[in-house]
Amino acid sequence: MYKKEIINEMKNYFGDDHKRIQHALKVTSYAEKLISLHQEKDINQEVIIYSAILHDIGIKNAEKKYNSSAPKYQEIEGPPVARDILNRFPIEELIIKEVCEIIGNHHSPGKFNSNNFKILYDADWLVNLPDEYDLSAKNKEEIIRVIDKLYLSEAGKRLAKRQFLS
Ligand SMILES: [Fe+2]
Repeated sequence: MYKKEIINEMKNYFGDDHKRIQHALKVTSYAEKLISLHQEKDINQEVIIYSAILHDIGIKNAEKKYNSSAPKYQEIEGPPVARDILNRFPIEELIIKEVCEIIGNHHSPGKFNSNNFKILYDADWLVNLPDEYDLSAKNKEEIIRVIDKLYLSEAGKRLAKRQFLS
């Protein structure tokens, strides 16, 4: 696993954009928590960790080329940059391919239904939920409803409830 190395590449790529570096690191640490909560062996840790570190890597080129960080541009611009970074290490093509597929769809749930995708998606939402939803304006039942609808994996729902309901 080249976790440290890929984190360094991500940091170099984002440069002084500390906000995005911190976001990627937070999502990676949630991804690790979800991996440890996930009971079955039907996931690939390497795929999930690399996807977490690099999931928003397309944002820089999206802003440069289209002057927009809209999800569709990030999804177009992310995979080639991720592939370029992953190719610097002896990582299997099958892993690189899946990471790129996940990054290219990480704002579009439904197309990919692997547990690797679900865990990355949920890790991102564990970081983003408080920014996107005003949880203080919602009662317990409403928060449960939001969580059950939004998160894709059982581990994600469980961790979100632990995190946002107490
Ligand atoms: Fe993200």
